[in-house]
Amino acid sequence: KKLAVFVSGSGSNLQAIIDQIKIGEIPATISCVISNKKDAYALERARKNGIQAIYISRRDFPSSLEYEKYLVKLLKCQKIDYVILAGFLYIFSEYFVEEFKNKIINIHPSLLPAFGGKGMYGINVHRSVLEYGMKVTGATVHFVDAVPDGGPIILQKAIYVREDDTPETLQKRVLEEVEWKIYPLAIKLLCEDKIEVAGRKVIIKDKEI
Ligand code: GRF
Repeated sequence: KKLAVFVSGSGSNLQAIIDQIKIGEIPATISCVISNKKDAYALERARKNGIQAIYISRRDFPSSLEYEKYLVKLLKCQKIDYVILAGFLYIFSEYFVEEFKNKIINIHPSLLPAFGGKGMYGINVHRSVLEYGMKVTGATVHFVDAVPDGGPIILQKAIYVREDDTPETLQKRVLEEVEWKIYPLAIKLLCEDKIEVAGRKVIIKDKEI
């Protein structure tokens, strides 16, 4: 399977995916890494691994639709099977989402539907989790539809919040103990055709899960 990974930041999830592809756990290749931030370290990670690194910003286009049309053309030219959002700070419109229906996935650093939606990204999520007094948190891998953080859930994993956690320590543990594990796993299952979507329900056809 051919993947396109969209990023805006450090790309630690991208790295986890690259590593699992390298050891043969995920039957796929990353055709390109696309960033809307020029200085995203994720682009550097792509280059270091011999993956095409592309910078395209919404600002280079007169409208969101023009931007998304360009991206759709690019992805179709490269015959991309799945679009992987890994810290991509941009909300796709219905147009883009329909072009790749059930082919776009995202990871969010909370147990959705809690702490998702508008303004909930990066460290804000973990700050809100602590402010609310949550005892557990985690991450969610989900299909992307037109509702931000609202598509069908593929995988979730929880960890306990500690009394001495800060937004920063929580962010680090959610990344290391949850995100870097469940995102590569979800992509592996997707590429092995083990994931079926029926309305809001996602069925995983794997004995181990
Ligand atoms: C992750 O926390 C992910 O859940 C969220 O954005 C962050 C990206 O981190 N969507 P990285 O760039 O993969 O290190």
